Amino acid sequence: MEQTRRDFLKSLAFGTAGIATGLHARSYARILGANDRVNFAVIGLHGRGYAHMESIALNKNAALTHICDVDSRELEKFAGVAKGKYNQTPVKVKDFRKLLEAKEIDAITIATPEHWHAHMAIMGLQAGKHVYAEKPPTHNPHEGEMLVRAQKKYNRLVQMGNQQRSSPHTMEIMQKIHQGLIGKPYFGRAWYSNTRKSIGTGKAVPPPPELDWDLWQGPAPRRPYKDNVHPYNWHWFWHWGTGETLNNGTHEVDLCLWALGQRYPSLVSASGGRYHFKDDWEFYDTLTANYEYDDCLITWEGLSCQGKLTYNRSRGALIRGTEGSVLIDRDGYEVYNLDDKQIDKYTVGKNSTSKDLMSMDSMTDEHFRNLIGGIREGEKLRSPIEEGNVSVTMLQLANIAWKLKRALRLNKQDATVIDDPDAMSLWQREYEKGWELTI
Ligand SMILES: NC(=O)c1ccc[n+]([C@@H]2O[C@H](COP(=O)([O-])OP(=O)(O)OC[C@H]3O[C@@H](n4cnc5c(N)ncnc54)[C@H](O)[C@@H]3O)[C@@H](O)[C@H]2O)c1
Repeated sequence: MEQTRRDFLKSLAFGTAGIATGLHARSYARILGANDRVNFAVIGLHGRGYAHMESIALNKNAALTHICDVDSRELEKFAGVAKGKYNQTPVKVKDFRKLLEAKEIDAITIATPEHWHAHMAIMGLQAGKHVYAEKPPTHNPHEGEMLVRAQKKYNRLVQMGNQQRSSPHTMEIMQKIHQGLIGKPYFGRAWYSNTRKSIGTGKAVPPPPELDWDLWQGPAPRRPYKDNVHPYNWHWFWHWGTGETLNNGTHEVDLCLWALGQRYPSLVSASGGRYHFKDDWEFYDTLTANYEYDDCLITWEGLSCQGKLTYNRSRGALIRGTEGSVLIDRDGYEVYNLDDKQIDKYTVGKNSTSKDLMSMDSMTDEHFRNLIGGIREGEKLRSPIEEGNVSVTMLQLANIAWKLKRALRLNKQDATVIDDPDAMSLWQREYEKGWELTI
C-alpha cells in the first residue's frame, strides 16, 4: 500500500524517538510526563511572535504561560490577542532576564532582532530552558559556534526556526532526491524576491516612552535612537540585523544544502549593492552569492526590491541533477527529466485531504510540534542548532564576502576563512561592555 504523507510524517516523528537527541524527558529538572503540557514563553512580539503564539496555542500539549517585550505597546496588544483569540492569559514581562527565573517555563521562543538571539538562547539554556530560536539564531559565525557548544554543555534542545524542515512535501521530496530521483544532484539555485519600500532617512529623536531602548539594544554597542529602526527595519542595519541573505536565504539556501547533502563549501563569493533606493539601508537590495564545492555548486539570488518572479515563484529552490531536476517551494514540488519534461507534480492542498499540515503557518505548527515531541518524548529534532548553524554560517560568510568585495576560501570542517585576517575579524562582533558572550 502506498505510504500517505501523514504516515510518512509519523514515521519520521516517532520512528526515531530518542535517537538523535539522546535525551529523554527524565533527564530534565521539571519532569514532563505524557500528560504534561510544555510551558512556553514567547520573547519578541511585534511580528513573528504571533506565529509562535498560534503554534503553541493550537498544540494541546503546550501552553503559553509568559510573554516578553521591551515595548509595552507590543506586550498589551499581544496579550489582547492571546486572550481574545486563544483564551490564554500569559504573564507579561518586560525584561527577559526576569522571565528566566520562572521555574514553570520549560521552553523559550526568540523572535527579537538578531543582535539578541545568541545571548537569549544561551542564557535560556543556562537557566535550563529549551529554545526555539528564530532564523538566523545568531548575528555572526562566532555566536553560532558558541550556541552549538552551549547546547551540548547545558543539554537542552535548540530548534532553529527554518520551518520548511518540517514541511511534509519537502521532507518527502528530499528523501526521494537522496534515493536518486534526479541522479546525482549537483547544482542548487535558491532565490527570493520582494518589493520592499525605502526605509528613508531616520531622525534622531527621543525613544517612545513605552520602549526601553537600552534593553532593546542589549548586547549591541549603544547608539542614539532613530525613528526608522524599530520595529522591523533593524533587519537592514549591520549593527542589529543580517540582511536578506539571512532573512530569507536561511530558508531557501538551506533547501539546496539539504538536497545536495552538503555542509561547508570551499569557496564563497558574493556581488551586489543597494541599487533601488538611496536611504539608511546598509545592506544590498540585490545580491548573488556562489558556494563552490569540489563537485557541486549552490547559488543564491536575493532581491529585496524587485518583484519579478523566478520560475513563476517569489521564492524557492531548483535542484539540478545528472538525470533531471526538482523545483521546490512552500506550496509543493515539480519534477522534470533531463529534457525538461514534467514527470511529477505535487501542490499543497490540491491533491491532499489533510489541510492541517499544509500552509506556511502549519509548517510552523509542525515545527513546534516536533520540538514539543522532542521535549516530551525524545523525538528527533528536524532542525537542531548544530545542523542549522551550517547554513547560517555559510550565509553570514556571503555577507562578509560582499562587504570585503572578494571571494573567501574556507576550511571545510568549520568554515573559518583561510589566509584572510580581515574576513576573520568579521567572524565576530564587539559587544556593549558587560554583554560579552560566555558559556
Ligand atoms: N521563520 C520565519 O518564517 C520568520 C518570519 C518572520 C520573521 N522571522 C524572524 O523573527 C525575528 C523577529 O523578526 P520580526 O520581523 O518579527 O521583528 P520585529 O521588529 O517586527 O519584532 C521584534 C520584537 O522584538 C522586541 N524586542 C526587542 N528587543 C527585545 C528584548 N530584549 N526583549 C524582548 N523583546 C524585544 C521588539 O520590541 C519587537 O516587538 C527575526 O529574527 C526574523 O528573521 C522569521
